Amino acid sequence: TKTIRVAIDGPSGAGKSTLARSAAARLNFLYVDTGAIYRTIGCAVRRRDIDPGDRAAVVAALPALDIGLTYGADGLQHMELNGEDVTAEIRLPEISRYASVVSAYPEVRAYLLEMQRRLAREHSVIMDGRDIGTVVLPDAEVKVFLTASAEERARRRMLELQQRGTPEPYEDILRAIQERDWNDTHRAAAPLRQAEDAVLLDTTELDFTQSEEALLRIIRERA
Ligand code: C5P
Repeated sequence: TKTIRVAIDGPSGAGKSTLARSAAARLNFLYVDTGAIYRTIGCAVRRRDIDPGDRAAVVAALPALDIGLTYGADGLQHMELNGEDVTAEIRLPEISRYASVVSAYPEVRAYLLEMQRRLAREHSVIMDGRDIGTVVLPDAEVKVFLTASAEERARRRMLELQQRGTPEPYEDILRAIQERDWNDTHRAAAPLRQAEDAVLLDTTELDFTQSEEALLRIIRERA
């Protein structure tokens, strides 16, 4: 049977991973979080005490990295670095910064391209990231550009951090989001942009259930 590829791109904090994971479970598709793969590279760079801004040093470290992506009994994506599970470690705020810097290097993107394409050849997938519809899976059957205003994304992130018991001021969160948006959209290599054939889904005014319904509708109409 034919496999279906759903590409979801958008800025950080738009709810891509939560929505994509949930929609994939409903459709029985594999969910691939490509940000986690970039984070794993960021994690490796930090562990080796490499300055993420040192492009040559980052690129030189790539061949020795064994990046593994596995699915646990829980159906969740786990990341392994040279055999060690780093799924929790890659969520550290420090790693977000490393991932954001190293993901701008074309050599890093090229290194991960085939791995991402292979996953989409073997299964029906919902893959989320920044360049899935534009670079990784330009022939995807369904492309969605998922976004929300920076202020709304900062508000959601603030609530999430409060619930986790690690609150941060709204202004700081908003500034960090705006900075990551700027980095993601202004880099030369695979900048974040909406593919011409992507459907825009703006969740600024939508709650989770409404967003998921809208996403599933887009997928079912096109797949
Ligand atoms: O989505 P997430 O915040 O986990 O992504 C971590 C970093 O990886 C981001 O800063 C983003 O710029 C980068 N990334 C990327 N291309 C992707 C997915 C993530 O450059 N397809």
